[in-house]
Amino acid sequence: MRTLITNIGELTTNTSMGSATPHVVVHDAAVLLDHGLIAWVGAADEAPDADDIVDAAGRAVIPGFVDSHSHLVFGGDRAAEFEARMAGQKYAAGGIRSTVAATRAATDDELRARLRGLLDEMHAQGTTTVEIKSGYGLDVETEERLVRLAAEVTSEVTFLGAHVVPAEYADDPDGYVDLVTGSMLEACAPHAKWIDVFCETGAFTAEQSRRVLEAGISRGLAPRLHASQLGPGTGVLLAVELGAASIDHGTYLTDADIEALAGSDTVLTLLPGVEFSTRQPYPDARRLIDAGITVALACDTNPGSSFTSSMAFCIAVAVRDMGMTPAEAVWAATAGGARALRRDDIGVIAPGRRADLVLLKAPTRIHLAYRPGVPLVERVWKDGVQVA
Ligand code: NIG
Ligand code: FE
Repeated sequence: MRTLITNIGELTTNTSMGSATPHVVVHDAAVLLDHGLIAWVGAADEAPDADDIVDAAGRAVIPGFVDSHSHLVFGGDRAAEFEARMAGQKYAAGGIRSTVAATRAATDDELRARLRGLLDEMHAQGTTTVEIKSGYGLDVETEERLVRLAAEVTSEVTFLGAHVVPAEYADDPDGYVDLVTGSMLEACAPHAKWIDVFCETGAFTAEQSRRVLEAGISRGLAPRLHASQLGPGTGVLLAVELGAASIDHGTYLTDADIEALAGSDTVLTLLPGVEFSTRQPYPDARRLIDAGITVALACDTNPGSSFTSSMAFCIAVAVRDMGMTPAEAVWAATAGGARALRRDDIGVIAPGRRADLVLLKAPTRIHLAYRPGVPLVERVWKDGVQVA
């Protein structure tokens, strides 16, 4: 079936179409969806025929959000930890362990129900691609369950067995790294595309992170890394050296990190929900973009450091507090996320790309930041099928 979305007041294509800016807009536009792909993009008055016509009534259309960082498979709740943080307590990596206990205790069906509920929540807010990490199992059996459940709903699955050292290995962290790089990797790799580590004080050292990433790479997984979330470290340099697709967080970057990222293919994925929910300083995205770094925005949906699933909220914070323009923030939440996943079939509205689009209840994309907290998503298509 051919669906034509027409009378689009502002279409963000993220194609350069002869212009110097990557986040191009076209006015009075139309887009034809056919068999899950975008078949045609152009002026509304030149649009081809279709079986189904959607009148956008002058509203804005953007590519579906590409949320390239989430931890959606978990049990339990840490609202009390958030409440304590808002009363002054500091965020620390160790909180992850309480989610591990609840996750190990949950059945597959319980985890699946939670995961699918969060995914529906994301679709309703315009997200059409999501990356999902394991990391709340920390034993072979549970980590395998988490990557397997994640693979039921996305092809962007990340094995994060090295999220934190579990309590039973507290006296032998290197022994835990042996487990992660040995039988745990063997069990999880068939379900995963990516390997990730939380390289941070309280989690894993740069040396341990290197061991995990190199083991994953030799098992056919591609690297990405959590680094510089709680303080500066050498994780960013390690990620660049290993050709990671993305380094995520980057709250505390050094000048050397910025220089290395600017000269690399590694995307910097900023996660404003984390700074919001842990009361840490927001990174200066303006400086990072001006330095030549490719920036993506993602939610980092997880029960500890950032329990939002709203890409629009992340855009609003990035514009309000991180110095990004609305156009840059929308690009980072769509095409930027696609780059962070090394994908060129999503994040862009152009013929041949996947038909993943969002019709906004607003005349321009600026409204995503201008009207924070307001549900502005009217309709969402994923692979040409309406999902919200
Ligand atoms: O991306 N940084 C490490 N992992 C998650 C937090 C996990 C948690 O606190 O449960 C993150 O922020
Ligand atoms: Fe994370």
